[in-house]
Amino acid sequence: MTKVSLADAPKTMTVPLLDLKAQYATIKADVDAAIQGVMESARFIGGPEISALESEVAAYSHAAHGVGCASGTDALLLALRALGVGPGDEVITTAYSFFASASTIALNGATPVFVDVEPDTYNLDPALLAAKITPRTKAVVPVHLFGQCADMPAILAVCAARGIPVLEDAAQAIGSEWQGKRAGEMGVAACFSFFPSKNLGGVGDGGMVVSNDAALADRIRLLREHGARPKYHHHILGVNSRLDALQAAVLRVKLRRLEAWHAGRQKNAALYRELLAGTNVGLPLARPEARHIYNQFVVRTPKRDGLKQHLADSGIGNEVYYPRPLHLQECFAALGNQEGDFPVSEAAARETVALPIYPELTSEQIAYVSAKIHEFLGPRAG
Ligand SMILES: Cc1ncc(COP(=O)(O)O)c(C=O)c1O
Repeated sequence: MTKVSLADAPKTMTVPLLDLKAQYATIKADVDAAIQGVMESARFIGGPEISALESEVAAYSHAAHGVGCASGTDALLLALRALGVGPGDEVITTAYSFFASASTIALNGATPVFVDVEPDTYNLDPALLAAKITPRTKAVVPVHLFGQCADMPAILAVCAARGIPVLEDAAQAIGSEWQGKRAGEMGVAACFSFFPSKNLGGVGDGGMVVSNDAALADRIRLLREHGARPKYHHHILGVNSRLDALQAAVLRVKLRRLEAWHAGRQKNAALYRELLAGTNVGLPLARPEARHIYNQFVVRTPKRDGLKQHLADSGIGNEVYYPRPLHLQECFAALGNQEGDFPVSEAAARETVALPIYPELTSEQIAYVSAKIHEFLGPRAG
């Protein structure tokens, strides 16, 4: 039993979508000390904070190797490049994700090939995957959207039979699991984002690739530093995409709290489920096989635009992830995809909205958000 009910909801209050100031207040002493440590060491590029974070994130993700990058986007870009993705290749991903899941394929010169998502998890639908594979398919990139793993065993089964590597876009899903296996140990590699809104967020941009494949990790390491080893001796064309030591030092402090933060988000999700059960809103499915870490808590209604406005008018932060599916983005028009090609993604883009779920939310805030949803949508039909 929860201690809070809809009747306890305050009449009015403000609930931001995310409150990083509240998070900072809980870790200020440690974060400030970590930043000061880097300043005093003057080791800003490379150094012990980076290698320690790489080992810690890899271990946390049940992977042997971690390679810090400047962003989650670069992690995907370099991991795909290290897999040999280039012009003439096709790479399959979901039509419903953040832009970088597909842009990194195209930026490597390959063609993004989209697959629709499951209507209840918004993750790549494995039943639709095999039909998209051609002799040019070089890799498959499932996205663990909103913090819940895609059905990796089903995806891996399709790909393993054809020798196609699976790269996990785990930007939103560090610490998520499928049947006890963690994001990072299921595919050939996994890419994380440390964008500030992620469950493990830095104080700026950052990302990491983790992998159990030593040769692949080594190639990504080479690519992120101009393809040079040693310095000034360039074997391949690489880029400058390093994670910096200030980010690593802060992320190491935060990594120690990550499990508690996941638990806070899971508790908040459970309270939403309880308080929203009686109203006419679609709740996100948490698959029993999955450990959902709730980077986002996304609800659904055909009256989404009205609900979004009602929440905003009530002082509640919310966001649509994502209002336009990837196949309908202008920059991908040349791929020839049409409206109607991926109907589940298109409906999700019209009907979903993310609610505040961050760990520092109070139960009164959750009751308030829930009460406002009841107020707008009324009691559950049927
Ligand atoms: C699914 C997904 N992939 C890739 C990225 C790219 O990460 P970054 O913003 O760190 O470049 C994000 C970030 O929002 C994401 O959500």
